[in-house]
Amino acid sequence: MIVIIGSVNMDLVLRVPRMPMPGETLAGDKFMTIPGGKGANQAVACARLAAPGTAVAMVACVGDDAFGAQMRQSITACGIDDRYLDEVAGEATGIASIMVDANAQNSIVIAAGANGRLDVERIERARPLIEQASIVLLQLEVPIPTVIHAIELAHSLGKTVVLNPAPAQALPRELLQKVDYLILNEIEAAMLAEERTVANSDDIPQLAARLHALGARNVVVTLGEKGVYGAFADGRLDHLPARKVQAVDTTAAGDTFIGGFIGAIAQGRDPFDAIAYAQAAAALSVTRIGAQTSIPTRDEVVL
Ligand code: RIB
Ligand code: NA
Repeated sequence: MIVIIGSVNMDLVLRVPRMPMPGETLAGDKFMTIPGGKGANQAVACARLAAPGTAVAMVACVGDDAFGAQMRQSITACGIDDRYLDEVAGEATGIASIMVDANAQNSIVIAAGANGRLDVERIERARPLIEQASIVLLQLEVPIPTVIHAIELAHSLGKTVVLNPAPAQALPRELLQKVDYLILNEIEAAMLAEERTVANSDDIPQLAARLHALGARNVVVTLGEKGVYGAFADGRLDHLPARKVQAVDTTAAGDTFIGGFIGAIAQGRDPFDAIAYAQAAAALSVTRIGAQTSIPTRDEVVL
C-alpha cells in the first residue's frame, strides 16, 4: 500500500492571455474549479498509474464545506482509501488560486485552510494505516512539524519514505537521512542543498551529490522541458531528456511524474524505467487543462 500524507486543495483556475500587472484589471477566459493540491494530486496519480491492485490511501484534512465534499468525491472516485481524510468542523477546505497564461505558464497562490490542521495527533491516529504501508509519500503543503513527525514515524517502522519538498522551503537537514527517495525540482534542490533560492541547471549533478551526502538515499531532480536527473543508491546516475509536447497547462505535471514514478517503484521496477514511465505520464498531463483532470491512467501512457 502507498500512503500519501499531504494537502487537498480545490484549484480555482483562471486562464488569462498574460499575467496581470500590479494595479491592473484584465479580462480572463473561462473560470474553472478543478480538484488539486499536491497531496491529493500525487495520490490520484499513484492510483491511476500504479499496477492494478495497488492500494492507495490518503491522510489529509478537508473543511466542512462544499469544496471538501467535492474533493472527497474526486479522491474516492479513483479508489483511494479515505478513512483518514478528516473533515475539520468550522474550517475551509484548502484552495489554490491559479492563473494559467497563453504560454502555459502558471502562477499559484495557496490558502492552506484545513491543510493547516493536519497535526501530529492526526498522524498518530493514522498509525494503523501507516503500519500497513510499504511506501509513505509526503510534500510540504501541510505543517512542517507534521511532515517531520510522519517521516520519523514511517522511517522507524521501516517504510520506504518518499519526500517531494514542494513548495520549496527550508527543512532540518538531518531529516534527509530518513528519506529513501527525494524527488524535487531545481529550485527545491538548490534550497535544500545549499540554502539558496536560485539554481543553474549546470549545477544539477553537484546539487544531487550534495543531497546524497546529506543523507537522501535516492535523488530525482525534475527539470521541466530539460528532462530528469536521477542519482540512485546503487551508484547509477543519468540524465533523461524530456519528450517534446505542446504544453497547455503544466499544473500537476510534477505530481503526475511522482505518482508514475512511485507507482512503478512500488511494483519493483528499475528506477530508470520508472523515470521513463513517469515522464511519459507527465508529458501527457501537460497537454491537458487542470490538476487531477489532466492525470492520465496507466492505459493511456505509451512508452
Ligand atoms: O502541484 C500542483 C498543485 O499545487 C495544484 O493542484 C495546487 O493545488 C497547488 O497545491
Ligand atoms: Na495539466
